[in-house]
Amino acid sequence: MPSLRLGSIAPNFEAETTQGHIKFHDWIGDSWAILFSHPGDFTPVCTTELAEVARKAPEFAKRNVKVIGISANDLNDHEKWVQDINEYGTKSLGPTNVQFPIIADGNRKISTLYDMLDEQDATNRDAKGLPFTIRTVFVIDPKKVIRLTLSYPAATGRNFDEILRVVDSLQLGDKYRVTTPVNWQKGDDVIVHPSVSNEEAKTLFPEVTFHKQSYIRTTPLNV
Ligand code: BEZ
Repeated sequence: MPSLRLGSIAPNFEAETTQGHIKFHDWIGDSWAILFSHPGDFTPVCTTELAEVARKAPEFAKRNVKVIGISANDLNDHEKWVQDINEYGTKSLGPTNVQFPIIADGNRKISTLYDMLDEQDATNRDAKGLPFTIRTVFVIDPKKVIRLTLSYPAATGRNFDEILRVVDSLQLGDKYRVTTPVNWQKGDDVIVHPSVSNEEAKTLFPEVTFHKQSYIRTTPLNV
């Protein structure tokens, strides 16, 4: 099994999706990507999650992020379920139109490759007793490097605002020598990266504040 640790290359694969056949790395191209799994089609928490992801499409696009879902069902189910998601989402959340691809993984090949099956959760099984995929998230950068992994239990829907917040933090950290503090939101002060000397910090970040704890240096970032 390839490594799925932060910093390793996201395993490549070919798959059928609701938007046609893809080669994963080619599909990512020069974008960032979010690959997220959910337990199964026609399940309630998943329906709310996919509707929310569809509604956040402009937020992902703004950040040059492509989104792709996966569950251990076939294309026929995915296509029928997308209609439900659009209908439910539009009624309950506001206009919803799922346009991102969903991978058909009925044989659990890609879920296995990405370690998305929780063999231990007895409540997370389909009608045949096979494990559903769990709720994982992989944030992958344009070099195909895994930058974030998350695993949530089947019964807990994810917070996609948090996932966008992490993308903002990662993209900022790639561009500037900064890190982001607890509960940081775009526009808040950031922390100067520990690898930056105090002298460099004064040049790079003229508004830097040196705190009593000499290892904490914060600065606004007017970008
Ligand atoms: C859900 O999406 O609602 C769900 C799926 C599998 C197990 C528990 C909840």
